[in-house]
Amino acid sequence: MTAHQKSAHLRKLKNQLIRLQDHGIDEIPCNSQLDLSSASARPSQSIPIRSGQTGIAQALDHIRAEMGDCDRCKLCEGRKNIVFGSGNPNAQLVFVGEGPGAEEDEQGLPFVGRAGKKLTEIIEKGMGLNRAQDTYICNIVKCRPPGNRDPESDEVSACIPFLEKQLQAIHPKVIVTLGKPATETLLGRKVAITKERGQWQEYKGIKLMPTFHPAYLLRAYTLENRKAVHEDMKKALAELKR
Ligand code: URA
Repeated sequence: MTAHQKSAHLRKLKNQLIRLQDHGIDEIPCNSQLDLSSASARPSQSIPIRSGQTGIAQALDHIRAEMGDCDRCKLCEGRKNIVFGSGNPNAQLVFVGEGPGAEEDEQGLPFVGRAGKKLTEIIEKGMGLNRAQDTYICNIVKCRPPGNRDPESDEVSACIPFLEKQLQAIHPKVIVTLGKPATETLLGRKVAITKERGQWQEYKGIKLMPTFHPAYLLRAYTLENRKAVHEDMKKALAELKR
């Protein structure tokens, strides 16, 4: 097996483990006598332990099942994977982005590319939280817009019922919208993100903090923009601790 094949296998395995964790499975019994040389030739004996899947995780599973192999809009034509969302279904903090990019489409997970690394840094270094444990992350559209363009209104209309159901099921204390399209979609109006970021809004009784998209931060990596996001996240954190 080449180094490239090995790293592709490891990436797939890591993603499968992340998906299991999202479904409330955090332990896989390991047989220390396992004969690795013949492991792939036999059906697995290990049954993952379900550590009591919560009602919210089940609700999210139902919403994902309802989406099925979605063809409700034209984005289905170019996608590799539906990127539903990931993180802790019981999180008090939900980040909503715009739509999957190339890496997210490849892996079926949100925010795993460059912007994702920046978002993880904001969550973990900036806020002192754990991305997998303390947050749930999803997007307004679940399939990659070609060339990473903004999602079009027919695509958002087709997908928004699923985001609404996700947010209704999780019912977090705080939603952070990343960038203008996510903020406008949830607020149902035009938004000047440079003016309105950092100001509390409300989405169906849930506090909503608009901030810059991490991809914008990467493009315009100024002290002013970094400070702005830092301030916005401080407000979100204070609300979470209230
Ligand atoms: N940008 C987004 O808005 N969402 C992702 O999942 C990745 C990049």
